[in-house]
Amino acid sequence: MSKKIWAAVDDYIVDALFEADPALDAVLAANRDQGLPPIDVSPAQGKLLSLLARIQGARKILEIGTLGGYSTIWMARALRMDGKIVTLELDSHHAKVAQSNFRRAGVSERVELRVGPALQSLAALSAENAGPFDLIFIDADKPNNPNYLSWAMRLSRPGTVIICDNVIRDGAVLDEGGHDANVVGARAAFSFIGGDKRLDGTAIQMVGAKGYDGFAIAIVE
Ligand SMILES: C[S@@+](CC[C@H](N)C(=O)[O-])C[C@H]1O[C@@H](n2cnc3c(N)ncnc32)[C@H](O)[C@@H]1O
Repeated sequence: MSKKIWAAVDDYIVDALFEADPALDAVLAANRDQGLPPIDVSPAQGKLLSLLARIQGARKILEIGTLGGYSTIWMARALRMDGKIVTLELDSHHAKVAQSNFRRAGVSERVELRVGPALQSLAALSAENAGPFDLIFIDADKPNNPNYLSWAMRLSRPGTVIICDNVIRDGAVLDEGGHDANVVGARAAFSFIGGDKRLDGTAIQMVGAKGYDGFAIAIVE
């Protein structure tokens, strides 16, 4: 089994199940043109986020890590009427590209993008009583996973769904004594979710166009 077949099966899933989506294709093209790294979720993962938001009946979504807004757009489209997604991004160039992508996809009115270090934006959201959010997607700098999970708990309610991306990392999550900060961050997400009695969670190992990785998913009790 190789990345080639995983990517081909991802293409099959998209061809078999998804409508053609020129707006999202244009978003990925704009990200490429603007030099953004191709580290957005895959189409199949974006659709999974959107389905989870719909299953949850989400009106308020929080995303940590916007990049060019590809995952934001998937989730924004899944919001219930009058819903809103707040997305947090450190890099002003990424944020500028994302804003233009939100206009392109027709979701600007449903998206609030806050630029700056997410830990500061999260403190501000908490001070403004912006929560509770129905769904929280964590996909930024991995060493901060425990800090983001901690803020996610403060901005949640019983029933909030929390999803954390890139927690498998080609299986490197098994590397107990490793020093790779991203792997340490992935393991920290497991420790946090496993160690907090208010959270009930699992993780899904995923292969596909983006390689071998996965989401941790938890619900707040
Ligand atoms: C993996 S990308 C997000 C991908 C996006 N969720 C998607 O699937 O389309 C991670 C993003 O987090 C941003 N980021 C990194 N550190 C951050 C921080 N401390 N605060 C906010 N954003 C940060 C990066 O600039 C990058 O754009």
